[in-house]
Amino acid sequence: MSADLTQIQPLYQPVQMPGEMAVFSPEVEAEIDRHLAKYRVKRSAILPLMFIVQRERGYLDAPGVSYLANRLGLRITDIWEVATFYSMLQTKPIGRFHIQVCKTLSCQLLGAQKITEHCAKKLGIKPGETTPDGKFSLSEVECLGSCGTAPMFQINFDYHENLTPEKVDQILDSLE
Ligand code: FES
Repeated sequence: MSADLTQIQPLYQPVQMPGEMAVFSPEVEAEIDRHLAKYRVKRSAILPLMFIVQRERGYLDAPGVSYLANRLGLRITDIWEVATFYSMLQTKPIGRFHIQVCKTLSCQLLGAQKITEHCAKKLGIKPGETTPDGKFSLSEVECLGSCGTAPMFQINFDYHENLTPEKVDQILDSLE
């Protein structure tokens, strides 16, 4: 990596930290330190750190975002820019099972809309919503890289492919 690249730093701008900043256990801090140690530029660790904060707090809340800005030496807006770009990062509370239906071309041609509508009807929520018991959230997302087995959705970290309404029922009913 060239010296120029490793010296890229965010523009200086005083950061107004909101009142509360997330606090983590020594074990989590050590895990974060291990990730930071892998990179010559601290901001390169933004995604692994975001996943840790999300895992610990359920989503990227304001105190978690403040913590990330502080640990990475970035502006709050730098953190939000990344947090709002990736569908795997959440900026509001999310259900225990997050159903992300792919809505991109292959899935769309092979029935993604029907799958989304079936989930919505079964769960009584629209895309972007969470069931009142906090069990399920439903989202529509862009291509998840499983186009050959469309239509598909991802629930938490698991892919479910070649979906039909019947298969969706089986999957959702089997979730604890
Ligand atoms: S189009 Fe759905 S996984 Fe690629």
